[in-house]
Amino acid sequence: MRADALLSRFGYCSRREASLWLRAGRVLFRGSAVTTSSVQVDPHEVTVDGAAVPFVDGLYVALHKPLGYTCSHSQDEGAPTVYDLLPSEWLRRNPSVQSVGRLDKETSGLLLLTDDGYFLHSLTSPRHHIDKKYEYTTTADVPDEAEELFSSGSFLLKGEKIPCAPATLERLSPRHGYLTLHEGRYHQVRRMLAAVGAPVDSLHRLSIGSVSLDSLHLSPGEWIPFNPRLFTDEK
Ligand code: URA
Repeated sequence: MRADALLSRFGYCSRREASLWLRAGRVLFRGSAVTTSSVQVDPHEVTVDGAAVPFVDGLYVALHKPLGYTCSHSQDEGAPTVYDLLPSEWLRRNPSVQSVGRLDKETSGLLLLTDDGYFLHSLTSPRHHIDKKYEYTTTADVPDEAEELFSSGSFLLKGEKIPCAPATLERLSPRHGYLTLHEGRYHQVRRMLAAVGAPVDSLHRLSIGSVSLDSLHLSPGEWIPFNPRLFTDEK
């Protein structure tokens, strides 16, 4: 790719600013300075300010989303966003970095982020039934019949015409347990539990597919790169 396209693709600067970066000798290809915008370079062999270009073949990171952060790209709500937790140059990458689905502001847990539109769509598509496991606490007891109701495949959420796909409820105590979903509808866990008279008090996503937050050893706010094949090979 062209040197100026590389600088803008990976979020260093705009294509217009690229010539300044190049003239300043900040960009090396195979160890030699690239001084012309139109020069073709292999991003795997480029350094900018002495460092290799990160995530040349796509950015895939797993984040432990803390409570109180939104998954929005704008700060309209006045709350911090998950993007505030990432290096700022990643946010200027083009294509942009997006979360794979969203977690509510008051939900913590495992969130995937990527700049790979194909990966994002394949994981969020309704055809891709990847398990998402949540740990909840509620402010009222979850009734006995909820387990069967949620697993039936005929449970209808208020205002919806298509029943929820079968979901697995494991109650550890009357107000604490796990709910595993195979789809991702708006506020789905909160709406399902509220519908059986047990409003959610706290919600945390433990895992997506076979990848659990525990196995990644991430504290709230921390992230780590992951291999996308961990998810796509599960299809
Ligand atoms: N279900 C919810 O209600 N909220 C989330 O953040 C995720 C799933």
